[in-house]
Amino acid sequence: MILANRVAIVTGAGSGIGRAGASIMAREGAHVVVADVDFMNADETVREIVAAGGSAESLVLDVTDDRALEDGISAIANRHGRIDILHNHAGAQVAGDLEQVAIEGFDKSWALNVRAHFMAARLVMPLMTRAGKGVILNTSSSSGVLYDREMIAYTTTKHAVIAMTRQMAGDYAKFGVRVNALCPGWVDTPFNEPFIAQMGGRDAIESYIAEKVPLGRWADVSEIAEPILFLVSDRSSYMTGQILVVDGGETVV
Ligand SMILES: NC(=O)c1ccc[n+]([C@@H]2O[C@H](COP(=O)([O-])OP(=O)(O)OC[C@H]3O[C@@H](n4cnc5c(N)ncnc54)[C@H](O)[C@@H]3O)[C@@H](O)[C@H]2O)c1
Repeated sequence: MILANRVAIVTGAGSGIGRAGASIMAREGAHVVVADVDFMNADETVREIVAAGGSAESLVLDVTDDRALEDGISAIANRHGRIDILHNHAGAQVAGDLEQVAIEGFDKSWALNVRAHFMAARLVMPLMTRAGKGVILNTSSSSGVLYDREMIAYTTTKHAVIAMTRQMAGDYAKFGVRVNALCPGWVDTPFNEPFIAQMGGRDAIESYIAEKVPLGRWADVSEIAEPILFLVSDRSSYMTGQILVVDGGETVV
């Protein structure tokens, strides 16, 4: 098991990609802290992991609440004495161009997609630098390297995640801490439900993906979990400040 004895925190691990990433880390021996604002979702992920023979606990919190994040991370640090992996994954997609987007949604996007990643990384970093090792993975998106039509809040925040990842990587490599970003393309999870509704239903999104994605289909969460495992494990031990795009070829055309 390639993550034996490691403690990992995964935000947004109650569903979708976050859950699949949490599960594969647990399969590889990590104790996983399932951090999610949704109690039922977090609990379900923990139960799935434990049923599969893994080790996990839930941490129910809104990652945009600084106080809750600080209390939660310090409780984990006190309980386990270490945090080896932080996967900052929780994020939101708020639609609209410059004039349409709700200001509140724009601010919420920056708070969740960027600032919460920044805060969680800042809180775990002292433990990692003291240990002389650690891994932070920030979820961006193919929208962090492309520009989507009428999605100013999402594309700008996901581009910022990449800038922040590279900045942190450069600053903390000397302490043995690696920081990389993951850019998934279209992954079939509840995250896309608002976009599917906006497009006019499942058939519309299926033909859109068939046309836009060279591989012609959605990713299954398992196809994102494997790159997550690569990035948080020693398999990527000489990689920092990099952006791994897993998008079925969408960004090459
Ligand atoms: N699914 C895709 O197609 C796709 C593609 C590219 C990037 N992403 C990125 O992946 C992340 C989530 O996608 P997913 O498909 O796993 O979504 P999902 O909807 O399946 O799961 C998101 C989870 O995050 C939790 N969450 C939301 N806000 C939170 C908060 N404030 N605090 C704590 N937890 C919170 C939700 O409760 C939920 O359990 C986002 O960062 C998104 O930008 C997704």
